[in-house]
Amino acid sequence: MFEAIQKLPPDPILGLTSAYESDPNPDKVDLGAGVYKDDTGVTPIFASVKEAERRWEQQEKTKVYISPPGFADFNTAIQKLILGADHPALAAGRVRSVMAPGGCGALRVGAELINRFKPGATIWVSKPTWANHVPLLGSAGLKIAEYPYYDGAAHGVDFAAMCRTLEGAAKGDLLLLHGCCHNPTGADLNRKQWDAVTEIAARRGLLPFVDLAYQGLGDGLDEDAYGPRTLARALPELMLAYSCSKNFGLYRDRIGALLTVSPTPEQADAGITHINSIARGIYSMPPAHGGALVKTVLNDPELRARWQGEVDGMRNRIHTLRALLADTLKKLGAPRDFAFIKREYGMFSFLGVSKEQVQRLRTEFSIYMVDSSRINVAGVSPGNVEYLAKAIIAVL
Ligand SMILES: Cc1ncc(COP(=O)(O)O)c(C=O)c1O
Repeated sequence: MFEAIQKLPPDPILGLTSAYESDPNPDKVDLGAGVYKDDTGVTPIFASVKEAERRWEQQEKTKVYISPPGFADFNTAIQKLILGADHPALAAGRVRSVMAPGGCGALRVGAELINRFKPGATIWVSKPTWANHVPLLGSAGLKIAEYPYYDGAAHGVDFAAMCRTLEGAAKGDLLLLHGCCHNPTGADLNRKQWDAVTEIAARRGLLPFVDLAYQGLGDGLDEDAYGPRTLARALPELMLAYSCSKNFGLYRDRIGALLTVSPTPEQADAGITHINSIARGIYSMPPAHGGALVKTVLNDPELRARWQGEVDGMRNRIHTLRALLADTLKKLGAPRDFAFIKREYGMFSFLGVSKEQVQRLRTEFSIYMVDSSRINVAGVSPGNVEYLAKAIIAVL
């Protein structure tokens, strides 16, 4: 079999990281891969998570398998974090969740569930969307269709075009929505727009599948969950893939959750049996460690407060860096207005330069970003912002 296998080209984002690492230029800047970094370029371990790990190590008595849904006290805590403790769907007993290996694991198991009950169903994704949505959803057998989302010229959401397309979606179609901090554009729906999308989904019978991978990094932990909370109040059904990679810094521990809201508690229980059987056929049961740390943080008031402070710190730093980059470009006389960077949320923005300009930034200035001109704002720092802004102006 292996005789016939040809090498795949390098992954565009992971390839960028290795090119950056082998670049000897001391001024090099990495705006590629989507991980949070501090001013020294390090992706730090949260102090709250480190403390949870210390406590868990003392407490852990066995490494025997955990059950397919994972820790019960992880699931109750994560459901409240996502929906808010007083959400009516929780009170009605219609919410269930399982631990999953990262947001990717949750997206894939969710896609398999959809395909089990609606084989070959159409799922609408934003144009553009996170590149990995396509294999995660498509390989499960779903048909992917795109709704217009980002208007590059206006640097914002083309909401009228999005709604026009969703009005034409068929009853029962799936609708993938980024909960907050849209990847790759940074352009989020505002509250009025979430309300309008909820109304369309309810009227047209669309089933939303929310990808919430950056809760707390946009506007605040509760603020960033406005969309899924609104959908879950108005609609009988919702699916949500959650990632703890960014907001707990647990990337390599692979922890996330798949959450469902079903019309009745009985249907919610039935759904979970299928989610467990799908996971059993892929990875059997979730890894325990990341979930143990998240539940330790969320269920201890003091650790939770410390963690919330750390998330607030990350978010504030991202906003500061957004302003710093936009203002430095203006100060240095950029011939274009980059103020939109300040208005966007999360780690990403489209700089709005051509592929050729992205190549020039890489070859002439050792500044690394994805060909689409998506930048990871967390790669900007007070130490590199002038160099970066001058380079951008030079290639415009
Ligand atoms: C939009 C989006 N969804 C989901 C994920 C899932 O991440 P993970 O599987 O590492 O938790 C990511 C990570 O980059 C993401 O950007």
